[in-house]
Amino acid sequence: MVQVIKKNNQLQDVLIDKRVGFVPTMGALHEGHMSLVEESAKRGLFTVVSIFVNPTQFNNKEDFELYPTHLERDVAMLEKTGCDIIYTPQKDQIYPEDLVMEVYDHEFYPVDSVLEGKHRPGHFKGVAQVVHRLFEIVKPQYAFFGEKDYQQLAIIRLLCKKLSLPIEIIGMPTIREKNGLAMSSRNERLSEAQKEKATLLYKSLCYAAESFATKQPQEIKDSIEKHFSSDDEWELEYFEMVNPDTFETIDSNATKHARALVAATLGKVRLIDNMKVTSHEV
Ligand code: PAF
Repeated sequence: MVQVIKKNNQLQDVLIDKRVGFVPTMGALHEGHMSLVEESAKRGLFTVVSIFVNPTQFNNKEDFELYPTHLERDVAMLEKTGCDIIYTPQKDQIYPEDLVMEVYDHEFYPVDSVLEGKHRPGHFKGVAQVVHRLFEIVKPQYAFFGEKDYQQLAIIRLLCKKLSLPIEIIGMPTIREKNGLAMSSRNERLSEAQKEKATLLYKSLCYAAESFATKQPQEIKDSIEKHFSSDDEWELEYFEMVNPDTFETIDSNATKHARALVAATLGKVRLIDNMKVTSHEV
């Protein structure tokens, strides 16, 4: 049986002298999360999964309120993987009243100022805050994040660098449904028909990767924007091809390193995805 722990001091007692692999989550787990847990267990690490829906990273109240939660189902899924501890803190454990924390306002410029940073004001500030706090509590040697949140992964690497934290950050590939849709807790809010329609994100990214050798970024972008605008149920927030280190938009296909990132709302559900578009990317 996996132990479920709610309190920081109890967790810290259990973690004494352990080599910890940490998988922070907001619950509503899916195979993408499981791949992170399995990787940690495969490396022989004592694997801690946290489940905490962090209010400070939601720039939209409705999105926070509608964020799916299924603790029992999550625990049952984690029982079947190599998870050792499930940490399910209440807000007072993460943000006690007397907590004084660094405020990560535009601390990771330019990475936090574009794409998700621009479209979800305050989002990365909240992510950096909670991840810093979780790292402080769990003190892992390794932490695992999905590449689905590619920009988040970059921010977390920058956070560790800034704070000189001795934590190895491992980015793991996006896990997809058979039709290409990237797994996400938010997919639960899509109807079956929308789940099929949502493959437009994946198809757009594939198109960008396939066309990059022969078409300029602007041409690719125009064509993708046209597809989204032909259906009223979609609202495209951005489709950009960027340098994967600086997140600056690239304007020529002569570049060796490029990643395409897309965010769009289908009905009421905001979805993101990304893919490398050059074969050279490291
Ligand atoms: O990716 C997520 O689920 C969240 O942003 C994280 C990293 C758990 C912080 O709340």
